[in-house]
This record gives sequence, C-alpha cells and structure tokens, in this order.
Amino acid sequence: MADEEEHVENMKRQLANLFYASLRAAFPNEPNDIEPLVAASTTKFGDYQCNNALGLFTKFKRNVTHYVNVHAVGQDIMINLPPSEMIESCSIGGPGFVNVKLSNDWIAKSIQKMLVDGIETWAPRLPVKRVVVDFSSPNIAKEMHVGNLRSTIIGDSIARMLAFSNVEVLRHNHVGDWGTQFGMLIEYLFEKFLNVEDVNETAISDLQAFYKSKKRFDTDVAFKERAQKAVVRLQGGESKYRQAWTQICEISRKEFDKIYECLGVHLEEMGESFYNPYIPKKDGGYNYASTDLAALWYHLNEEKADWIIYVTDVGQQQHFDMVFSAAKHAGWLPDDDGTYPKASHVGFGLVLGEDGKRFRTRSSEVVRLVDLLDEAKVRMLEEAKEKQEQRLKDGIIAIHWTEEELEQIAEIVGYAAVKYTDLKNNRLTNYTFSFKQMLNHKGNTAVALLYAYARICSIIEKSDQNIQELKTTGSLVLDHVDERTLGLHLMRFSEVVEEACSNLLPSMLCDYFHNLSEYFTKFYLNCQVSGSAEETSRLLLCEATVTVMRKCFHLLGIVPRDKI
Ligand code: ARG
Repeated sequence: MADEEEHVENMKRQLANLFYASLRAAFPNEPNDIEPLVAASTTKFGDYQCNNALGLFTKFKRNVTHYVNVHAVGQDIMINLPPSEMIESCSIGGPGFVNVKLSNDWIAKSIQKMLVDGIETWAPRLPVKRVVVDFSSPNIAKEMHVGNLRSTIIGDSIARMLAFSNVEVLRHNHVGDWGTQFGMLIEYLFEKFLNVEDVNETAISDLQAFYKSKKRFDTDVAFKERAQKAVVRLQGGESKYRQAWTQICEISRKEFDKIYECLGVHLEEMGESFYNPYIPKKDGGYNYASTDLAALWYHLNEEKADWIIYVTDVGQQQHFDMVFSAAKHAGWLPDDDGTYPKASHVGFGLVLGEDGKRFRTRSSEVVRLVDLLDEAKVRMLEEAKEKQEQRLKDGIIAIHWTEEELEQIAEIVGYAAVKYTDLKNNRLTNYTFSFKQMLNHKGNTAVALLYAYARICSIIEKSDQNIQELKTTGSLVLDHVDERTLGLHLMRFSEVVEEACSNLLPSMLCDYFHNLSEYFTKFYLNCQVSGSAEETSRLLLCEATVTVMRKCFHLLGIVPRDKI
C-alpha cells in the first residue's frame, strides 16, 4: 500500500479541490458549500471543465441581481481560482463553463514522478475498507458454463481493480453445494458404488447426465422417496451421507480448479452449505433466497464488509433485488443506495453463437469451458507456427521460437483473447462469441494490445539506454501535440480505474486501454524516438506507457510478455 504522502490524487479531484476553493471565494454568502462539478472536457477548448455556472446562475437569477448573464458567473469562478502550477490557462465556454488547459510541464513532471515512485501512487482511493466479491459460483455436479466463465472473468477483474484501490477484497465462491438435489445425487451414487471411496471422476460425468435428466426422480417413486430421506439424513449430519456429499463436492471442485488455474483466478470457497447453520429453521426452509439472505447477513456482521458485490447473469437480477430489499426491511442495509454498507448486483448478458442464438457447440448443449480456452490456444498456436515458417521462407530475421515458447505464447494470447472479449463489452449487452474476431491482430482486442505492449518493450530495449537511470537523470517534456495527448491520457489512468470501480464496469478500463494504445501508435508514427534529439524524453514516455499498460493488463487478469 502506498504511503499517505506518496499517494497522488487524480487530476479530476485535484481540479475539484481548486474549484472548491474558488467557489467558496466567489460566493461567500452561499449558506452551504457548493460542490464543484468538474468533468473531462467535451470540447477542444480545454482538458477539463467546471460546470457550476449554469446551475448557480439559474439559482441566483431570483435574488442576486449583479450577474447579467451566465458568462459573468463563470468569469467569477475563473478569477477566484487559486494559482496552481497544474493549470496553463483558463477560458469561459458557452453556458459559462470554465475550460481548463493543463500545463504541459506539470503533466510531464507528474508522469516522471510516477515513474520514480511507482504506479501504486496512482491507485485510486475508494470510500470503502472491505468488500466481498461473490463471483464464479458454479453448481456442484454440474459443468461450469459460459455464464460461470463470464462471472469468473468479470468478477476477477472487479476484485483486482478494487484491490489495487487499496480495498481489502474477499473473493467468495458461492458454489451451489447444498440443497435437495443432493438427495438424489447421493442415492444415485450409492446405487453405483458400494464404497464411497471408490467414487471416481467418471462417476461425476455420470452424475451430471443423471442430474440433468432428473427423469428417475420424477418417475421412480421409490427412488424419489429415498432421495428425499437422503436429504434429511445429510442435513442431519449422518456420516455416510456427509461422506458421499463431500466426495461429490470434491470431484467437482477438482474440475473447477483446473479452469481457475488456466485463468489464473483465485477464489475462496464459501459455498451455500457454509451458511446453512445461519438459516433459521422455523419453516424448515432452505432455498436459494434464504441462503443468500443468511450469507448477506454474514458478510455484513461477521466479515464486516461495507460493500457486497454479486456477479451473475442478468437473469438473477430480480432475485437479488428481492434479497436486497428484504435486507433493507430488516434494517441490515440503509435504504439509501448512496450510503454504505451497500450491496450491488453486477449483471451481465448472454454469450451468443454466431447464429445469434445462445452459444453452444455442435457436439454438446453446454459449451465446455476447457474446450473453449483450448480452442483459442490451438488457433493461436497454428497461426504462430505458420507465421514463423513464413518468416523463415522469406528470410526475415526474427526471434526463432522453440515449440515450448510457441505453446506458452499461444496460451497467454489465446486465454487473454477470451478474457478480454468478455470484459470489453458493456457487460449488460449480449455479445457474439467469435474466435475470428477475438484473435484479430487489429482493433480492440487483447491480441492487438499484447503485440503493442511487446513492441514498446522492444523499442526501449533496443535503445540500449539504462531506462531505470533515465527516470531520475533524464527529463520528460511534452512539446509535440501527440506527446501531449499521450501524456494526458496516461494521467487519466487513476480516475478511469476509480470510475470503473464505482460503476463496476471493467469495460471502462478496456476502452481506456485501447485508446492508450491508439494514442501511442499516433505518437510513434509522428515522433521519432531512437536517434532523435528528444530520445531520452521519448523513451521515458514509452516507459510510462508500458508501465500503465502493464497495470491495465494486470487489472484485467492478463499476463503480458515483453517478447511475443
Ligand atoms: N450458483 C449460482 C448459479 O450458478 C450462482 C450463485 C451466485 N451467487 C449467489 N450468492 N447467489 O446460478
């Protein structure tokens, strides 16, 4: 965690502090503090703007007469701004807003300071201490489906962004490991195996098929009765039943863990069964909703979380609305969603196949996640091999990758492609799953970003300069317009992460990331780096870009490579 004095406020907040002072000075008779309305500029006249004038003018019109128009209100706000090295100039725009142009010098200095002190000093500050992110949460004895994949990827990114923002994050896997379905699963298991210890992994695929059809339960009355008794005996803690249940969970867990390992995601399992003791048993009732209520109570009172975030498909929105409003009724949560503690549902849309229907493969109804990740990797590998062969044929000198390296790269790129596609879309909209699109080298894809990153790394490496040393000995200047645009965008990183956190929208970070790479391309096209008079400064700008990019990758759960 960055020390308090090292932490740097984001630009928007620094400006808001200045405007806060100016509003106080300009309107000393206002009974309450006026909250400054500062936003990134929507016009070309500045980098940021303060939008308070219009509202104030409308309010004043009735009793303060000396303002002839809204422009004059803006003027007053502008002249009362305390002097600051961050501001180059100000002007008044149309309906009285104050345009602020930031100083190139100040931007350059701030970036260089980050290079020395580390990107952690740009970490946002959020008004929460401890957050529970409930994500992934597959059901035992069922295969993880694409919905679970989306939840895993989106939840992981949200957890990463919050952790970067100095929040303590509890990553909960609310697996479906309890409930009446276990009665029939256990009975089925008993039928197939005399000893619970003999249960193996194939048994689970049997169980899945069995679970899905449920025919037996509906048609075989004797079986149904046994299954219902089994639930009671399991919940009563009878050891044979407990053991069978544990066995079933254990085998599923192994399958889930394979996927978590592929994805580099870590979760703490806190399944439905964990909350069982916290559910009042008066009505004998156990169900999805009462478990979630018990879990919410636990997060608030035992874990002392001040924000609880649930990541599931939008289909569960109603369920969570109900749970949250029950919690408000009970007085566990305040009625006002603007205050903490609070609970939020992060919904996401469907993944569609290229036929526009719910995504599935030819062979199976549900898409096996492992296959999906595998296919992305295999496709990347084929492509990389072809390219390498072509390069050899053409006599192009490039790194010659070993088979093993190629595999590694294909895995990184392939998995990153799947993740990024999931994250870049506004999560509420459905999206079409297309390998072709996600593995494209151009456009807003992980592949393009990974290659851009490696390219910048190689620019720095080829310069043969000691970049660590340059951070303190060199000096960064932003004279060229494309240098400035890139620099300003780098400086926005902190407020973008903050916004992505408060809106629970990783796609905001993806947009930022994609733009960053575009601004870099433009800079590199128009500003010579190696061998130019500005080489040192420009290398520092490259290094700052790489630093921010690396953090973006990290927050999206992607591990980039310097060489690719
Ligand atoms: N197991 C559920 C499913 O796959 C998701 C659970 C989400 N989390 C929760 N606390 N209800 O549909």
